[in-house]
Amino acid sequence: MQTQIDQYTAEVNAFHPANADELEAFRIKYLGTKGLIKDLFEQFKSTTPEEKRTLGKVLNQFKQLTEARYNELKERFESEVSNSKSDIDLTLPGEGFTVGSRHPLQLVRNEIIDIFKRLGFVVAEDREIEDDRHNFSALNFPPEHPARDMQDTFFIEKNGHNDVALRTHTSSVQVRMMEQGQPPFRAIMPGRVYRNEAISARAHCFFHQVEGLYVDENVSFADLKQTLFHFVQELYGDGTQVRFRPSYFPFTEPSAEMDISCTICKGAGCNMCKYSGWVEILGCGMVDPNVLENCGIDSEKYTGFAFGMGIERITNLKYVIRDLRLFSENDVRFLRQFKTEVI
Ligand code: DAH
Repeated sequence: MQTQIDQYTAEVNAFHPANADELEAFRIKYLGTKGLIKDLFEQFKSTTPEEKRTLGKVLNQFKQLTEARYNELKERFESEVSNSKSDIDLTLPGEGFTVGSRHPLQLVRNEIIDIFKRLGFVVAEDREIEDDRHNFSALNFPPEHPARDMQDTFFIEKNGHNDVALRTHTSSVQVRMMEQGQPPFRAIMPGRVYRNEAISARAHCFFHQVEGLYVDENVSFADLKQTLFHFVQELYGDGTQVRFRPSYFPFTEPSAEMDISCTICKGAGCNMCKYSGWVEILGCGMVDPNVLENCGIDSEKYTGFAFGMGIERITNLKYVIRDLRLFSENDVRFLRQFKTEVI
């Protein structure tokens, strides 16, 4: 047994593994549960007490030597692996992240919200699937109004008393808001709306609107004009002119459409403004007393104004985009042009 231990000791001392696999084989051979050292301890049991005295010490020394050798080699391999990692040049510039950009409609929507927030308007949102009451009847639409036709509106359910449809405008959110409380209301309501239109450069089956509503005591048409005038100066810059033309909406009386001086040609005439110098950007008016009453609000005590604008329209004028389809095609070459700082 002594000679065997001597031979193993020489082998262990001479062991120089080329890789971690060889080291592992070494561990299994000597230190494993079925390894040579285990074997030697088995043999040791059947030696005489005389032999035990000397062999015990030798055997333990051999075991310690093998374990120490193994640990030393293992450490060397591990540090070699981590040294090789430091070949990476940490001073090289990193590979920058590709940062996305906000959708132009989202940018303009946020800008509109910011302007009105500064005037004390809150943001309200509501459902896109609406019933007849909130999309039409509470807003004073007569039963035979063309918007109630399948040709103009996407109906989900036609049941003859309270049809269900994709909302055709965000004015429905006015009704939702007013029937839930009492004035004062001062809110803007952005959202997506749907109309049964063939898709072209100038029309789409869905688009986005921002609705505005201000109801309180003594709200007048002058408040409406001043609010919208301020909004336009903020959005398109000081000096942008506005004009109001009489119009008709079932839910406002009186009603108007607001034009601004063409932002592209500054009123000189171009094909964006069809050489008139003016472009229409929104509809507005004083909330019809019938609408207030339909929502449980005393029209003797309260008055209000409302307005509604298409976000696509506002965006087209801001960025000179002439084809509505670009907004929903998700072509990154188009979207990338609106890079903004993303925080
Ligand atoms: N709902 C109208 C539309 O979709 C826009 C509108 C016009 C909203 C006048 C209003 C308003 O609140 O007062 O064309």
